[in-house]
Amino acid sequence: MSALVVAVDGPSGSGKSSVSREVARRLGLAYLDTGAMYRAATWWCLHTGVALDDRAAVAQAVRDLPLDQGVNPDAPHVVVDGTPVDDAIRETRISAAVSAVATNLDVRDELRRRQRAAITEQADASSFSHGRGIVAEGRDITTVVAPDADVRVLLTASEEARLARRARDVHGSDDAASVDATRDQVLRRDADDSTVVQFHVAADGVVTVDSSDLDFEQTVAAVLAVVEQVG
Ligand code: C5P
Repeated sequence: MSALVVAVDGPSGSGKSSVSREVARRLGLAYLDTGAMYRAATWWCLHTGVALDDRAAVAQAVRDLPLDQGVNPDAPHVVVDGTPVDDAIRETRISAAVSAVATNLDVRDELRRRQRAAITEQADASSFSHGRGIVAEGRDITTVVAPDADVRVLLTASEEARLARRARDVHGSDDAASVDATRDQVLRRDADDSTVVQFHVAADGVVTVDSSDLDFEQTVAAVLAVVEQVG
């Protein structure tokens, strides 16, 4: 059996990380969270005192980024220069700053190069470290990083559903105050990210899964059905 590469893109709050991870787990594939790479790069710049508006310095810091990222979906881990940063990269200060780093085109070149290397390593049946193939998720995987993936999915959801999900993740509730507290950040981040990558409309050949009215299990099942059909 040859290796399977599944690419999943979507906006924040679409559920793509948790869904992609579960799909990888069920299929016995590796899992690459590319958003975690941009977050780790942002953490590293802040940690080492690189000014985020100094584009050349940020690009150099990311080229030197000592990142170790695990691709086992049962235990993904992100370590920077020996420090585990799995929790730190989810902090609000990182979410607020990550688009500034991700819109730096030299940063994108460097991280895309690393993403392609990770995908190729896992897709090469002779060197896989966790299953035959990989599920890679982010904003530009179906279009730029792995446009020739076997399966390409755009996971979308209505703005209302995305805000409610993010509010539950961050505040543990989707009441009006919690949704309001996440609104600015989610929508601004998507708007900023959209200036360099297109992830709101499916590119040619990419299958859209709309999770607005689906729960987690149903969304996983919908993505698995696409894999079944196309893969
Ligand atoms: O998916 P997540 O919210 O963790 O992504 C964090 C940020 O990383 C996004 O807001 C975006 O700025 C950046 N990103 C990107 N391209 C990707 C994945 C993430 O620009 N493929």
